[in-house]
Amino acid sequence: MALPKILCLSPLEPAAEVVEQLSLMGWDVLQASDQAGVSRRIQAHQPMQVGVLLLKDFAPEQLAWVEACLRLSNGLEWVGLFHAPALDSPLLREWVLSYFFDYHTLPVDWREFHLTLGHALRRAQLRGRDDIYLQATGKMGMVGHSAAIAKLQQQIRKVASTEASVLIGGESGSGKELAARAIHQCSRRAVGPFVAVNCGAIAPSLIHSELFGHERGSFTGATSSKPGLIEAASGGTIFLDEIADLPLELQTNLLRFLQEHTIHRVGSAHSLQINVRVVAASHVDLMEAVAAGRFREDLFYRLNVLPIEVPPLRDRMSDVPVLAQHFLQHCMTDKHQRRVEGFSRQALSAMMSHCWPGNVRELSNRVQRAMVMSDQRLITPADLGLNMARSAAGVGLDAVRTMAERDAIAMTLGRVDRNITHAARELGISRMTLYRLMDKHGLAQGAG
Ligand SMILES: Nc1ncnc2c1ncn2[C@@H]1O[C@H](COP(=O)(O)OP(=O)(O)OP(=O)(O)O)[C@@H](O)[C@H]1O
Ligand SMILES: [Mg+2]
Repeated sequence: MALPKILCLSPLEPAAEVVEQLSLMGWDVLQASDQAGVSRRIQAHQPMQVGVLLLKDFAPEQLAWVEACLRLSNGLEWVGLFHAPALDSPLLREWVLSYFFDYHTLPVDWREFHLTLGHALRRAQLRGRDDIYLQATGKMGMVGHSAAIAKLQQQIRKVASTEASVLIGGESGSGKELAARAIHQCSRRAVGPFVAVNCGAIAPSLIHSELFGHERGSFTGATSSKPGLIEAASGGTIFLDEIADLPLELQTNLLRFLQEHTIHRVGSAHSLQINVRVVAASHVDLMEAVAAGRFREDLFYRLNVLPIEVPPLRDRMSDVPVLAQHFLQHCMTDKHQRRVEGFSRQALSAMMSHCWPGNVRELSNRVQRAMVMSDQRLITPADLGLNMARSAAGVGLDAVRTMAERDAIAMTLGRVDRNITHAARELGISRMTLYRLMDKHGLAQGAG
């Protein structure tokens, strides 16, 4: 039988003794001393269920990347081996509570340590964590039950299993960055960094060196060499948001990087080989930008190998109630806002009637605003900054009835995860009637 694999991460000190002892205990030991190493080991050696972090000294500023490893390698049960004074650091204690199965202090009682590792392994097996990728593909941090979200998640799973570039389209606030993160989390690169860059937010004079890095003295003010964001994403994914804002000159550099996987830091004659997956997004139509000569056609085709479109919220209205509830719960962690318990029927109705030009971000903002504004138990349309315009604007009673019927069905379907039997029971109608009404209101495919 194959020996169980254990990852030994020792960022600051040699780990020869620990490695030797672990081998004697019957583990197949894989060592890493930096983030790229952790990433490589986890990608190449599955299943790996237990990790040991060896830390004699704790220097938080040197070890920010260790937290990224702990967070991203969430398929592992981590056991710490610490020099007792290192635990004086509040940050290390926080890590232990957040990410660790257990810890021991040095000098180690190897027999005890062996028992702990055995428990950690059994716990990892019990949780069925041996496929961390499968686990990550579960929910992707996306709230919603609509057919449109299910289709998006399916596309994300597909593209995540490849290495090709992805171009994400979709309106502002629809969830493009969330989709990019999900692609990273579901991919073999999940243990590596995810670096998000908003190309429109960096000054044109700085963007070259921000993305590609620079050498000391390469321009006034460059007092030291600095790696760029592409290098920082090494082993992981770089998310280039608002790619249409990238100046043409840099589009050329990016194209070269996509073709050759090498970059030149500003002021350097040497090229560096970099292993990074590119996911880009744009809320403007890139084909139009190509036609207008603002975006390189060859770069467009290079990025657009796997296109993904995040649907606007108005095309998945059945997700509105669950999303609203999700944001409400999120805000409720703030102790000042405990008095609010939920949404009034009118508030839900107003949300179902709104067309959400700002998409999910607008919904999140309105719920946050309502939590602050509301002085009652239930949030009202006014708290959300929405009015019942459609019914107030002289719409006939029939139309109001139809809207109310549609809203009630869409909300119920959302609440019961589109289980027809449960929805029909809640609405007090037969399943056949529900099917008929879903058809009438265009709710049959899950798009609200
Ligand atoms: N399905 C979802 N479930 C939960 N939260 C979501 C969902 N979709 C989007 N959000 C949240 O809505 C906000 C906006 O999403 P995101 O930043 O991904 O949108 P975007 O398309 O990148 O927006 P922009 O075009 O303005 O950059 C974020 O806070 C995100 O977490
Ligand atoms: Mg964005």
